[in-house]
Amino acid sequence: MSDASLLHSTWAEVDLDAIRQNIRWFREHSQAQVMAVVKANAYGHGIIPVARTALQAGATWCGVARLDEALLLRQAGLDAPILTLGYTPPARLEQAIVAGISLTLWDERQLEQAVAAAQRVGMDARLHLKVDTGMSRLGIQPEAASHLARRIARTRRVIFEGLFTHFARADERDPLPTDQQQQRFEDVLRALEREGLRPPWVHAANSAAGLTRPSAHYDLIRVGIAMYGLHPSGECPLPQGFRPALTWKAVLSQVKLLPPGRGISYGHTYVTTRWERIGTVPVGYADGFRRVERNWVLVGGRRVPVVGRVCMDQLMVQLDEAPQARAGDEVVLIGAQGEERLPAEELGRRWGTINYEVTCGIAGRVPRLYLNER
Ligand SMILES: Cc1ncc(COP(=O)(O)O)c(C=O)c1O
Repeated sequence: MSDASLLHSTWAEVDLDAIRQNIRWFREHSQAQVMAVVKANAYGHGIIPVARTALQAGATWCGVARLDEALLLRQAGLDAPILTLGYTPPARLEQAIVAGISLTLWDERQLEQAVAAAQRVGMDARLHLKVDTGMSRLGIQPEAASHLARRIARTRRVIFEGLFTHFARADERDPLPTDQQQQRFEDVLRALEREGLRPPWVHAANSAAGLTRPSAHYDLIRVGIAMYGLHPSGECPLPQGFRPALTWKAVLSQVKLLPPGRGISYGHTYVTTRWERIGTVPVGYADGFRRVERNWVLVGGRRVPVVGRVCMDQLMVQLDEAPQARAGDEVVLIGAQGEERLPAEELGRRWGTINYEVTCGIAGRVPRLYLNER
């Protein structure tokens, strides 16, 4: 029995050595600097320990979605460059500038707001211009990008720090859609270079492009999913050398032998057909474990089926495959136990989603415990 199982009913273990190893892979395989993308609480892994570890391992930037995430990093004493990849409300610009957070912009109005905020606080605003080359999410259209870039470069109180784009299909086998996006980005970049306006940080690659497309590495690669040791997609698996960082565990809170004909959980969607050993696991949909049919967990190094409906805080498992299981034993919901593995990718498939959503969805009430913290 581990110490954690004496203290917690469920918890996620994050092995920071895996984060180090995964960051190092990019350091060894790319000339570009690495931005550790730690938005959404580091994809559920815990923003502060992951960011600190990634920076120790050689990442030089952190990427977040929102200003509040950037400020958490600053409050933790991290002074590395941080880029807010998403929208920053205008009333928060002064706070961002004072904290030295780099900001993403994509229109003239944002430039004016940034300049005004920078003047008010008497500090420069660091700006990255985002170009929409085909994701159709955020960004200025390529045709209009050079004009705005020129304005940023020539405006006082702002620093034209970066130019970037984001790929929509870099995790697919077919390279063509990403080739096209990259070509649009290159056109903007070349135009700026001709005028001597190339900013110091040009970036485009997410994990998938970081793994497969060296020509898109430029100055910086923005690595999220691969840093956590998770595959960008089925068509873009991680190569050898990566390791998943997160294992989601729980303890068996009760094990009981039930006679035939007993309904299990709300709605009695599962009814025992003979004497069956049923275990209770203190994890439910409020922890981020989905209330869908055909879930599995690991007990005693074996896969056991979840039976009956997943409740808010608990679920039940059928223990035929783990006859030795006792209350207090460790359960693995994501990760390895003995020889058996239940990767986040498999839960994603089972739940009709992707590994990203699985780990991001592990609720805040599940404690994160860190292994190999330095
Ligand atoms: C703009 C941007 N860059 C980089 C990333 C990292 O992507 P990935 O986790 O696929 O490496 C994301 C994540 O969605 C993103 O939104």
